Amino acid sequence: MIQSTLLWQNLLAELPKTPQHIIDIGCGTGTLTNEIARAGHQVVGIDQSANMIKQARAKFPQLDLQIKNVLLPVMQTERYDVVFSNAVFHWIKDQDKLLQNIFTLLKANGQLICEFGAAGNIARIQQAFQHELTQLDREYHSPFFFPTRLDYATLLRSHQFKVEEITVYDRPTVLAGGAAGLKNWIEQFFATDLFKLSQAKQTLIIHNMVQNLKDSLWKQDHWEADYRHIKVRASK
Ligand code: BEZ
Repeated sequence: MIQSTLLWQNLLAELPKTPQHIIDIGCGTGTLTNEIARAGHQVVGIDQSANMIKQARAKFPQLDLQIKNVLLPVMQTERYDVVFSNAVFHWIKDQDKLLQNIFTLLKANGQLICEFGAAGNIARIQQAFQHELTQLDREYHSPFFFPTRLDYATLLRSHQFKVEEITVYDRPTVLAGGAAGLKNWIEQFFATDLFKLSQAKQTLIIHNMVQNLKDSLWKQDHWEADYRHIKVRASK
């Protein structure tokens, strides 16, 4: 927990120091949206999941939190100084639509400040999962968008952004739950593929992955996922 808090601080530190009008895309349960508000900004958090927004509103009733899909058309009245997002963009397939809408959401000279998975993110975990599916004569198609620094800079420029800073860094991340941390993570993030299999096969896959990844990702009393992230600051 201490470690992940420090990791958010890293991204929050990119925000301007003077109060800004900010939209937090994919705000989830609102933890970072609340931190942004606490730093003195006027912030709206959006998430397409009604369940996430329900939880966020229960935790932070004072915040402006809305169920909204960022890929839908942008209203003409909606403009922000900063578009912020943490650990969300790697889930979005239509990156062109995403960047097109973000560009529209920004005021002139506004900034996109975001972080998400980069090329190589969870490489060991994905390889281990792919290996297990291959053993069962199945294919794994990664649902994630994990770009290189160069590819993302090129994409941003193709959408008229000025790239101010892009950093790619290893971000080893402690998985909550102690010995069950990796199992929980696999069940949550590979759920779509796992649900297509019998319970016995799911159990076997998770058992094998835990064994195979022990040498590289088990650290004495916890699992540490091999996250590698890209941190971006780009302006309109
Ligand atoms: C992450 O890099 O934050 C991440 C990637 C895939 C699943 C969950 C988290």
